[in-house]
Amino acid sequence: MRILITGGAGYIGSHTLLEILGEKHDVCVIDNYSNSSPVALERVAKLTNSNFVKVAADVCDERALNNVFEDFKPEAVIHFAGLKAVGESAAVPLKYYEHNVQGTIALLKAMEASGCDRIVFSSSATVYGEPVYLPYDEDHPCAPTNPYGRTKYFVEEILKDWAHSNDRNSVVLLRYFNPVGAHSSGRIGEDPDDIPNNLMPFVSQVAVGRRSKLQVFGNDYDTPDGTGLRDYIHVVDLARAHVAAVDYVAKNRGVDAFNIGTGKGATVLEVVKAFEAASGREIPYSFGPRRAGDIAASIADPAKARKMLNWQAKHSLKDMCESSWEWQSGNPNGYRSD
Ligand code: NAD
Ligand code: UD1
Repeated sequence: MRILITGGAGYIGSHTLLEILGEKHDVCVIDNYSNSSPVALERVAKLTNSNFVKVAADVCDERALNNVFEDFKPEAVIHFAGLKAVGESAAVPLKYYEHNVQGTIALLKAMEASGCDRIVFSSSATVYGEPVYLPYDEDHPCAPTNPYGRTKYFVEEILKDWAHSNDRNSVVLLRYFNPVGAHSSGRIGEDPDDIPNNLMPFVSQVAVGRRSKLQVFGNDYDTPDGTGLRDYIHVVDLARAHVAAVDYVAKNRGVDAFNIGTGKGATVLEVVKAFEAASGREIPYSFGPRRAGDIAASIADPAKARKMLNWQAKHSLKDMCESSWEWQSGNPNGYRSD
C-alpha cells in the first residue's frame, strides 16, 4: 500500500516507519521537525536500506497537504503529527487545538479531496482520565483532565463522525499507554530536546550523567510501593501495532478504538531498579510531592487488540530498559550526537 506517515520523524513515528518499510509498503513522511530531527529519517533509511519520500511541511498547511496527496496518492494515512506535552498544553491550549485538532481536520479534507479513506490515529490512554475501574477497557468512560488529553478526545470524536459519514471510510484509534524503549539497533530512540517530562527518558539521562538525580513524584499512592504505576509498552511493539492497524483499515470499514498496552504495570521504583540492572549504573533519586494531574495507576486491558488486530506486546520491562540504555549510551545527546 502507499502510506502517508505524518510526524514520521518523531519518536513513535520513526519506529513505525521502520516496521512499515519492513513490510514493503511505499511510504511518504510529512513532518515539520518541530520536535524531531531529519537525522532520524536518514538513519531509518540506512537501517532498512530503502527509500521513501520526505516532505518538510506542517499538517495545518492545506496547500502543502493537497500537493502531497496529488503527488503521492496515499491509500492510507498514519497520523502521528501533533504536540504532546501535558504541562505546555495547559499554558498554550490554542496551540494544541491548532496543531492537534485543526491539523487533523486539514488532513481529513485533503484525504477526502483525493479519495483516500483510511486512517490510523495516535490517540492516548489519557482520554480515559481518572480510572473508574482498572484495567481500562475501550468502553471505560472518557473524561480527559487536561487540554492535551481533550485534543485527543475531540479528534477521536471528529474521526468517529467522519467514519460514519459514508460507508467507505475506515478509522482505527490506537490508544497508547506508556511507550518507552528503542529499536534494537540503538540508532533511533526518544530524543527530548528539553528536560524530559516522562519517566523513562529522565531516568536514562540520569544514568548517562546528563542529570544528577530523579525526583519521584509522590510515594503515598495506593500502589504496591506507593509510587505511580503505569503500563509501559516497548515502542517496537507499539510500532508493530500500527502494521496490524494498517492491515485492519484496509480490510474493514467504520471505526474502532484499541488499547495498546501490555496489561501489566510497573511502579516508578520498579522502573528505576530495572534500569539500574540494564545499565549497570546507579540511579540516584529522592521523593518529592505528587505531580499535579497524575493518577495512581494506569493499566490497559489489551484483549480487544489481541482478538481483532491479532496483535500482542512481546517485550518485557527488561527489554524496554536495555534498549533505552543502548540508545541513550550510544547517543548521549540524542540525534545531536552525530
Ligand atoms: P514526537 O513529538 O516525537 O513526534 C511527533 C512528530 O510530529 C514530530 O516529528 C514533530 O516534529 C511532528 N509534528 C508536530 N506537529 C506537527 C505539525 N503541525 N505538522 C507536521 N509535523 C508535526 O511524539 P511521539 O512521542 O512520537 O508521539 C507521536 C504521537 O503519539 C503524538 O500524536 C502523540 O500525541 C501520541 N502519543 C504519544 C505518547 C507518548 O508517550 N510518546 C503517548 C500517547 C500518544
Ligand atoms: C504522561 C502524561 C500523559 C501521557 C503520557 C504518555 C502527564 C501528567 N501525563 O503520563 O498525558 O499520555 O505521559 O506516556 O504528564 N515520574 C516521576 N518523576 C519524573 C517523571 C515521572 O516520578 O521525573 C512518575 C510519574 O509521576 C508517573 C510515572 O513516573 O507515576 C510515569 O510518568 P510519565 O512517564 O510522565 O507518564 P504518565 O504520568 O503516565
